[in-house]
Amino acid sequence: MDSNKRPETMERITTPELAQAFIDEQIEAVRNQVGDKKVLLALSGGVDSSVVAALLIKAIGDQLTCVHVNHGLLRKGEPEQVVKVFKEELGANLIYVDAVDRFLDKLAGVEEPETKRKIIGAEFIDVFAEEASKLEGIEFLGQGTIYPDILESDGVKAHHNVGGLPEDLQFELVEPVKLLYKDEVRVVGKALGLPDSMVYRQPFPGPGLGVRCVGAITRDRLEAVREADAIVREEIDKLEPAPWQYFVAIPDVKSTGIKDGKRYMGWAAVVRAINTVDAVTAEAVEIPWPVICKIRDRIIAEVDGINRVLWDISDKPIATIEWE
Ligand code: XMP
Repeated sequence: MDSNKRPETMERITTPELAQAFIDEQIEAVRNQVGDKKVLLALSGGVDSSVVAALLIKAIGDQLTCVHVNHGLLRKGEPEQVVKVFKEELGANLIYVDAVDRFLDKLAGVEEPETKRKIIGAEFIDVFAEEASKLEGIEFLGQGTIYPDILESDGVKAHHNVGGLPEDLQFELVEPVKLLYKDEVRVVGKALGLPDSMVYRQPFPGPGLGVRCVGAITRDRLEAVREADAIVREEIDKLEPAPWQYFVAIPDVKSTGIKDGKRYMGWAAVVRAINTVDAVTAEAVEIPWPVICKIRDRIIAEVDGINRVLWDISDKPIATIEWE
């Protein structure tokens, strides 16, 4: 039987009970596969890797080592949440790598989007491989592959994500959620006790805020993206239903503002909210006017360097969802 094919008889996981049955089954399967050997997992804090981490902690505890690489392009509070949930609450063996300077130094002055993606992808693999080489006795690599990744190996995610692990890191894979769809992964994550803010996260690109700090990334503009993004998420999260994806991009352009009677140059924060089914086409979402005004007021008041807020109402096509 092809282990990468979801059996037609497999029931869709929609309830906590079905999730628990799946978890029990996978705990046993992982224990059988891994025995007393060690597993390494790159834990980004995204839904898929978080669910795999929580599942593997239950199955093999200390035999799992998680590596969280903070590349400086994560959203506000994310690295802290990974440490809190996995190290403090779930007692994981977690290696936290502060690689912020390393990534931002490599990205300095680089404008071209695909070059930025390549640098981020390659640097991530280098950092992860370095950490792996410090550990002894690793024989397996945990991975948050999900069924759409298998079905659409030429889909959006594969198209964007660069890299693959080097030869000496080609361990046997442990992929407990590879036959699940995203909604099922979320039900399983919830049953594993992960917080809602992790389980119901909107999609977030691998290169993170790097593709929303449009053009050559500078630390000050990146901080502005991170702060403005946190405000937009906080305000739009309150909508029912929340759009599929919503965020801020800040292009590398300044325009005139006026403060205390003096003119000065500042950036424009671009708010974008879209709905889509498959990310191949997307529609701009109408954000209620009071909400967009609140976002404007908060960004202007709370984020250094921004003097203008724009609302991107473009559909895909012709605009892509991200700005780069
Ligand atoms: P675009 O901008 O191509 O985005 O309309 C479609 C979806 O893919 C996400 N995206 C990425 N995801 N790595 C990823 O894992 C990337 O480099 C990347 N670029 C875009 C985007 O957020 C949207 O959901």
